[in-house]
Amino acid sequence: MDHPQLKIIGTLHCGIHSLQEAPKNYDISEHTGTIEIESQYHEALDGIEKGQTVVVLCWLHQADRDVLTVYPRGDRSRGLRGVFATRSPARPNPIAISEFEILERRDTLLTVKGLDIIDGTPVIDIKKKI
Ligand SMILES: C[S@@+](CC[C@H](N)C(=O)[O-])C[C@H]1O[C@@H](n2cnc3c(N)ncnc32)[C@H](O)[C@@H]1O
Repeated sequence: MDHPQLKIIGTLHCGIHSLQEAPKNYDISEHTGTIEIESQYHEALDGIEKGQTVVVLCWLHQADRDVLTVYPRGDRSRGLRGVFATRSPARPNPIAISEFEILERRDTLLTVKGLDIIDGTPVIDIKKKI
C-alpha cells in the first residue's frame, strides 16, 4: 500500500509561542487565533460559518515522534501510559484533534477560540462537528 501523502491545508496563527504556554487541551482554553487556509482550498470552506464548532486536525510539528509512553499530563503519580491511551502530542504521527469555535470568517481566514496549539502549526484538515 502507498504511504499517505499529507497536504497542508493551512496554518494556525496565534499568541501561543511555546509548548509550555499552550493549554493541555482545547476544552480548558480561552485562547483565540486565526487559521489561514491556503487559497486553493477556498471552495472546501463552503458551509463554514461564524458560530459553528469545527473539529480541526493539526500536524504537531515540534512533537517527539519516538516516544511511546508518557506520564499523562506530566503527572508522575499516574504512572506511565502508552501514548495511544492518552492525548499526548508525542506519538508516531503527531496529529492533534481539537474543537474550535468559529468567532469570525473572512474569506479563507477563520478566527477561532479554544486553542491548545502553538503559533505556526500546520493544519491538515477541518471537519464539521457532528
Ligand atoms: C495534549 S495536546 C492535545 C491536542 C489535541 N487537543 C488532541 O487531543 O489531540 C496539546 C499540547 O500539545 C503541545 N503542542 C501544541 N502545539 C504543538 C506543536 N506544534 N508541536 C508539538 N506540540 C505541540 C502543547 O504542549 C499543548 O499543551
